[in-house]
Amino acid sequence: MKALVLAGGSGTRLRPFSYSMPKQLIPIANTPVLEYVLRNILDLGVTEIGVIVGDRAAEINQALGDGSRFGARLTYIQQDAPLGLAHTVSIARDFLGDDDFVMYLGDNMLPEGIAGIAEEFAAHRPAAHVVVYKVQDPRSFGVAELGPAGEVLRLVEKPQEPRSDLALMGVYFFTAAIHEAVRAIEPSARGELEITDAIQWLVTSGADVRAGQYEGYWKDTGNVEDLLDCNRHMLDSLRPSVAGEVDDASVLAGPVVVEEGARIVRSHIEGPAIIGAGTVVEDSHIGPHTSIGRGCAVTGSRLEYSIALDGASVTGVQGLRSSVIGRSASVGTTEESTGRYRLVVGDHTRVEVAA
Ligand code: DAU
Repeated sequence: MKALVLAGGSGTRLRPFSYSMPKQLIPIANTPVLEYVLRNILDLGVTEIGVIVGDRAAEINQALGDGSRFGARLTYIQQDAPLGLAHTVSIARDFLGDDDFVMYLGDNMLPEGIAGIAEEFAAHRPAAHVVVYKVQDPRSFGVAELGPAGEVLRLVEKPQEPRSDLALMGVYFFTAAIHEAVRAIEPSARGELEITDAIQWLVTSGADVRAGQYEGYWKDTGNVEDLLDCNRHMLDSLRPSVAGEVDDASVLAGPVVVEEGARIVRSHIEGPAIIGAGTVVEDSHIGPHTSIGRGCAVTGSRLEYSIALDGASVTGVQGLRSSVIGRSASVGTTEESTGRYRLVVGDHTRVEVAA
């Protein structure tokens, strides 16, 4: 068994963050999403992992290296343009050979792991095993229609009028039968070779295609709301540890991680919360459900249910909530009179102030 991790694509829904970093490296509880993905794959005992990379290849390479740090052997496969999930399978053909493989979308978070899914695949070894998840609005996902015995009847990518509430998750198990399907399909209306269409091709040609329903926590971290929710979920199982400095005037309540070299001064940290290495927090209230990255500065501020990426600074701002602050971005106060704001905001950035 091999694995194919998809870390290319354009990440438009995660702008502006995806302008400066691949979305798969966005940190959740201060760890990049891709690291959780690799750990789940390694937990299956699968170490030969192909990683599809696009124009952000250099950063992904820098973050994961050759994989030896995790006990994996990584093979990077360059995709020149994001031509679709099935296209990645075709360019990985040499790497995959005729082996069974798990295809794992590099922005999908499944904190409880994928061992159960792997077992279901191994029990019958169908041509394709997909995983479905009940969602309220499936229109932004692939959607599955299942028969009475759980067999896959029909799969449609992002339908306007979904015929079920079962979204396809970004974890798929395949035998080598998928390669013929990938060769047989045409690009969709949005110009991509869809893996959903390739699996549908297998269904139509009578191959065994099965679906399992996932009951654990799952998020596609492709947008800010889901990112924050996932951060909350991961922080809920945070194991507290303090490697940095906390002065006597500060209080840590609940599970809090203070990484090495971080300093907490006259502040209240309400767990679950994580303060990254080298960050300084002064005269502030942070948390709950907040991750502060490395090398940040938070002064005289209050911040809850939020994520600050490395190098961010927040000065003199009370009441920040549900916020994501980008790398080396700064949020502060202005000399302008009360009720006025001064903004220097990048492209596709979102600012919301009290009405
Ligand atoms: O998250 C589950 C959904 O993922 C499924 O329900 C859909 O059926 C499936 O098509 C996919 O939809 P998304 O719109 O979320 O796919 P996205 O474009 O975000 O790409 C998923 C991952 O694959 C992401 O890490 C980027 C990577 N990718 C994507 C494309 C299109 C590539 O590496 N190459 C590509 O060409």
